[in-house]
Amino acid sequence: MSHGSTAPLPGGRRGPLPGARLGALAGARAGARSGARPEAQPGTRHRALLRSTAALGALALAGAAALVATAPLALATADEPAGTAADAADAAADTDAADTLAQLASARGKDIGFALTANYLNETAYRNIADTEFNFVVAENAMKWDATEPQPNQFSFGAGDQVAQYAASSGKGLYGHTLVWHAQAPGWAQSLSGAALEGAMTNHITGVVNHFEGQVEAWDVVNEAFNDDGSRRSSFLQNGMGNGWIETAFRAARAADPNVKLCINDYSVESVNAKSTAIYNLVADFKQRGVPIDCVGFQSHLIVGQVPSSFQQNLERFAALGVDVRITELDIRMSTPASSGNLQQQASDYASVFRTCLAVQACQGVTIWGITDRYSWVPGTFPGQGAALVWDENYAPKPAYNAIYTALGGA
Ligand code: XIL
Repeated sequence: MSHGSTAPLPGGRRGPLPGARLGALAGARAGARSGARPEAQPGTRHRALLRSTAALGALALAGAAALVATAPLALATADEPAGTAADAADAAADTDAADTLAQLASARGKDIGFALTANYLNETAYRNIADTEFNFVVAENAMKWDATEPQPNQFSFGAGDQVAQYAASSGKGLYGHTLVWHAQAPGWAQSLSGAALEGAMTNHITGVVNHFEGQVEAWDVVNEAFNDDGSRRSSFLQNGMGNGWIETAFRAARAADPNVKLCINDYSVESVNAKSTAIYNLVADFKQRGVPIDCVGFQSHLIVGQVPSSFQQNLERFAALGVDVRITELDIRMSTPASSGNLQQQASDYASVFRTCLAVQACQGVTIWGITDRYSWVPGTFPGQGAALVWDENYAPKPAYNAIYTALGGA
């Protein structure tokens, strides 16, 4: 992995970045500025709409007249009649530059990522938003244990490689998710314990980290290892190997790649609470004993109106231990169908999370757990809830889009 460059990015991004990525990011930004895609005319009401590629994406869905009409409708305001297909086409033909979320985040030295399922890139609207609005990507499922090693020592990297290739070809940073987790682990591994499980876990970590060396900049080595009360989660990992398994996993990852950053990741750890304190204590202990650990991921699967007030303070206490922090899986769910009041609250919640990351120097960025409500994991996991992402089911940007845009300094 080429960690040679220490050239600062705008916004004072700390530490070395892989030289290739710096070049790629610069290229991506230049490409976006060169008018590669049409933008809205500044100063018109279309600007907010066309800040996002949603209308373009909808237009590009050949023959999808209904979608073309739907995207502008979603943004119509009281004094502006609902947009028409002709309006959208008109605005799409304008070429004045407006920033994307990726450009704004890059200018602030932060990553803005999304969880990618590569098949969806075949959909033009999805692809346009992925290409232009994000500078960072993580595989939604393709790098998990069941996907990468479905049979013992039979590695299968096709789906993960697709994600890595998309990141490379689009000049985005790549996050690795996840090496060891109690869920989406293959049955063969779950049936092991003791030395056999430890050997299998170490072999898995080694194989996956070696394969993606130089492509992934940070790995979720361990995911969701704790209960809400701060005790260890009962899992085949915990029960099969005892308390030492997390340290074993981190040491194996470091042995496989001396340069990649190693993170622990969890949910419901955004506030100062028993669970986040358990992870805090683990990081402090690792740092003190020289066990490798570089970063902590805060999943942030949030509920509308419930961004914790101690979020920034919590990130800062981790940063003070000398690790990076990152919002890794942000989505903000609500009861469906979504009310306009909840969509407004969601916008303010998204903005608040981005402002929190901006306020903490060690915060590398914010990754959103998907692009469109069409494909979010939320409704399948939390019945009756959804509408958790930034683009709706028809790829129209929700109020959260402009809120994030403004939080990132867009005017
Ligand atoms: C989810 C994916 O979004 C779904 O497609 C999959 O069926 C289950 O996993 N915490 C995590 C993520 O760390 O890997 C999960 O992703 C969401 C919760």
